[in-house]
Amino acid sequence: MNAIKAENLTKYYGNFLAVNNISFEVRQGEFFGLLGPNGAGKTTTIRMLTGLLKPTSGTAHVMGIDVVKNPVDVKAQIGVVSETANPYPEMTAWDNLMFAASLHDIQKKERKEQAENLLKLLGIYNRRNEKVENFSKGLRKRVAIAMALIHDPSLLFLDEPTAGLDVQSARMIREFLRRLNERGTTIFLTTHYIEEADMLCDRIAIIKNGKIIALDSPENLKSAKRREKVIEVSFDRYVADVEKSIAKLSTVSRVKKRGDKIRIYTSNFPKTIQEISRFAEENDLEIVSINTLTPTLEDVFVQLTGLSSLDIERMEQIGRLRKLRARGK
Ligand SMILES: Nc1ncnc2c1ncn2[C@@H]1O[C@H](COP(=O)(O)OP(=O)(O)OP(=O)(O)O)[C@@H](O)[C@H]1O
Ligand SMILES: [Mg+2]
Repeated sequence: MNAIKAENLTKYYGNFLAVNNISFEVRQGEFFGLLGPNGAGKTTTIRMLTGLLKPTSGTAHVMGIDVVKNPVDVKAQIGVVSETANPYPEMTAWDNLMFAASLHDIQKKERKEQAENLLKLLGIYNRRNEKVENFSKGLRKRVAIAMALIHDPSLLFLDEPTAGLDVQSARMIREFLRRLNERGTTIFLTTHYIEEADMLCDRIAIIKNGKIIALDSPENLKSAKRREKVIEVSFDRYVADVEKSIAKLSTVSRVKKRGDKIRIYTSNFPKTIQEISRFAEENDLEIVSINTLTPTLEDVFVQLTGLSSLDIERMEQIGRLRKLRARGK
């Protein structure tokens, strides 16, 4: 039995097609990522899989149970950390966990053990008796994760668990999720951080405009692109717009400036090396270093979606502003 099986899942909001006929399976024990830019359909997908939103068409089974027909049975088996998941601010961390436990059928002793365990693993045990209103966004997210796990579900869903968090909280959460998965919990997370998906996931589905445009392990996604080589070169002195001149060389497909280094993408490696040395000679430049790099997941993402991570960051900012405005802030 698969942990998740989505078949032809589709969601229209009015006339707007937000999720377009997606199908995939997540194996038990897998760490699965749904990676996509702002507005791609990640939240809509996770809400359909967790029984919070009825699909327009298609089906989803979670731990073998039909989500639309038996949402209550599904909820007993899963934990959900939604995008906006928030513990009650006027309650302490501990009381939030006890409240979450009361929604499930768990023995009192077990509740306490589980709560203690989770708070320790998430590094907030010593703050358990503080009201959550004093907590940073990162600490609140950790409480929300503990709440989602209080009944020890076999499958955990998280919608952008580290978006907008401080670096320390984000790292702590990633490390926690990795360990949780190692202990056997299946994890389904959405993210727009390419590196996060690369670091954590066994397999990644890339979603764009409601459609899954690629689904594979990070390494397989990268190897599909290995025909293209990346050369990183630096010269002994700075020349204005050097990257633009290099981009004009006949065998170069794309150029990116990274600090004092220039990344050159090519599918004709030997010819490009020749062109670069000729270019250096003609411009009286000395090559200080030259390396070949294997493509990153970001390279794959850029190729598939046509979006750079800078675009994604910008879209993320716009999205956040839009949401704040919608809430009237
Ligand atoms: N309730 C709704 N009514 C109308 N359109 C909606 C609704 N919710 C989402 N949408 C639209 O559906 C598309 C997918 O939204 P969704 O929230 O699933 O994307 P996402 O990948 O989670 O993006 P984000 O990065 O903003 O969280 C977006 O274009 C969004 O504007
Ligand atoms: Mg979302």
